[in-house]
Amino acid sequence: MSWHATVLTLFPEMFPGPLGLSLAGRGLREGRWRLEARQLRDFATDRHRSVDDTPFGGGAGMVLRPDVVDAACADAIAAGPDRPLIYLTPRGRLLDQALVREIAAGPGCILLCGRYEGLDQRVIEARAMREVSVGDYVLSGGEPAALVLLDACVRLLPGIMGATASAEEESHADGLLEYPHYTRPAAWQGRAVPEVLLSGHHAEVARWRRAEAENATRQRRPDLWLRHHGRNSDASLLVPGPTDT
Ligand SMILES: C[S@@+](CC[C@H](N)C(=O)[O-])C[C@H]1O[C@@H](n2cnc3c(N)ncnc32)[C@H](O)[C@@H]1O
Repeated sequence: MSWHATVLTLFPEMFPGPLGLSLAGRGLREGRWRLEARQLRDFATDRHRSVDDTPFGGGAGMVLRPDVVDAACADAIAAGPDRPLIYLTPRGRLLDQALVREIAAGPGCILLCGRYEGLDQRVIEARAMREVSVGDYVLSGGEPAALVLLDACVRLLPGIMGATASAEEESHADGLLEYPHYTRPAAWQGRAVPEVLLSGHHAEVARWRRAEAENATRQRRPDLWLRHHGRNSDASLLVPGPTDT
């Protein structure tokens, strides 16, 4: 059984979108993963196919109805049980590589995309949804967030990346940002490639890359650097870098 994603959305035509191209798209065509986008409106019960209503307590905007969303969730769970049910929301825990790895290692996921003001709280609780955010900003809908989460997971599935990339050395793989990359020409606009990369000395290259990864993480992402060292209170690990002015 291949990794199976179901997206519950008011805009199923947004899928697979960019995931139909490149490595993810080839994987989809080869059956290495499956994707269904289900129209939330199909689970409405009135003749207007209403999915939302005004918020109790007043205020602007509309809220997705719990009964409609619950029926869509039941349908998705029946099509593939044991998958995490994830509501994409700026109120959720931030998506990171650890969570991506966890979801990619499972049987797939069910992703609920909100719109308007979001979703009635009761169905989030009744279905014990995991709430996940793709960043501290507000999108107009959960669909771009679902695409981000799916892209990050799918590239980790067996047979998707092949030899084209090494998941072990990437940014966030072991809590560090990646070292910088260089390719031909060796000299460009007066800028040279670091000498060690032309040396052919593999151990030296590996040492240089490790040092660059550590420097980049320390300077750009002190939060990751502290976590990497597991010493959350040791401020002496924070060396100000050129971007920290
Ligand atoms: C306009 S937003 C609703 C924002 C909500 N009223 C709030 O302030 O938290 C509509 C939908 O976009 C999605 N969304 C917006 N920002 C997101 C983010 N950072 N991560 C994941 N989903 C997001 C959610 O599904 C949300 O229900």
